[in-house]
Amino acid sequence: MESEQHQIILAIESSCDETSASVVRDGVVLSNIIATQKVHEEYGGVVPELASRAHLQNIVPVVDQALKAAQISKESLHAIAFTQAPGLLGALLVGSSFAKGLAQALDIPLIPVHHMQAHVLAHFIEDPKPTFPFLCLTVSGGHTQIVLCHAPLDMEILGETIDDAAGEAFDKIAKMLELPYPGGPLIDKYAQEGNPRAFEFPIPNLEGLNFSFSGVKTAVLYFLQKKKAIDPDFVKENLKDICASVQYTIVKALMKKFEKAAKAYGVSHIGVAGGVSANSGLRTAISELGQKYKWQVYLPKFEYCTDNAAMIAITAHYKMLQKEFTDLKAVPTARAAWK
Ligand code: KG4
Ligand code: ZN
Repeated sequence: MESEQHQIILAIESSCDETSASVVRDGVVLSNIIATQKVHEEYGGVVPELASRAHLQNIVPVVDQALKAAQISKESLHAIAFTQAPGLLGALLVGSSFAKGLAQALDIPLIPVHHMQAHVLAHFIEDPKPTFPFLCLTVSGGHTQIVLCHAPLDMEILGETIDDAAGEAFDKIAKMLELPYPGGPLIDKYAQEGNPRAFEFPIPNLEGLNFSFSGVKTAVLYFLQKKKAIDPDFVKENLKDICASVQYTIVKALMKKFEKAAKAYGVSHIGVAGGVSANSGLRTAISELGQKYKWQVYLPKFEYCTDNAAMIAITAHYKMLQKEFTDLKAVPTARAAWK
């Protein structure tokens, strides 16, 4: 079972507030253990120092669980993969240092993985896998990108946000509504019972394929200030309609550029990735877009949308096939170019 002809990789993800480990054998994910750090909730956002400390506490049990769930021993691993960038530097250091130590102890190669490339490749964990060229809308707490994929490791960014990420806009607006962090999933929950056309917020009108969300955020802030001055209970009384209207605006802004990109590049295989791809409004919108043009739509399972090590593992699988390794000198970086 664990013989030499297999390619078995342990992958570690620690870029933000999820400590995760996954084992992949020959491109098949055998386990994906995720420890979500609850410590940040009371601060209304991720506190970098607390994230690093929580990773330190979580990493050994999470890796042990991932190996156990996959029924793989450390000795039968062929490589260790880790998220090298982008992310919180202290958080990345925990995962990368652990990966380096284990790779050195087992005398096996190290595979560095770019977190944003991994979000896109989350589509390749399960069947049916996308056909190339594949266009992916990657929407997370830190990024908003339209990515054109020619092959698993050959991708280009066609457009991205010039200010806030879509998830950041969801979370910051949720904070204005006094919802706990991360507010994106809660806006989604309340939006499902609200009227998306109750309140109108401006859709950013940027040229090309880039996005901007800071204007939406400011428009909602001023709108709430004005309404609350007249009625202090305005948010409480209108929460569902506000959430539905905010979600409608953000999803519309995302879909406008995504549709434009797919048409401009003649792509008919499309998908969404990243934490915000769990959003029900976005999932419906992309499915409707697919129906409209008869395009093939790919939506990853929820557990592969938000941060997880399975996406790092599948990326490492493709990198190992091309022998894209690094050595013990590898250092994580908070920001990094695409490759
Ligand atoms: O990819 P991810 O787990 O972490 C980053 O790499 O940033 O994305 C987290 C983001 C957060 O902003 C969170 O609020 C958002 O994804 N998110 C959602 C939903 N689920 C997660 N936003 C809107 N609706 C959701 N259902
Ligand atoms: Zn992410």
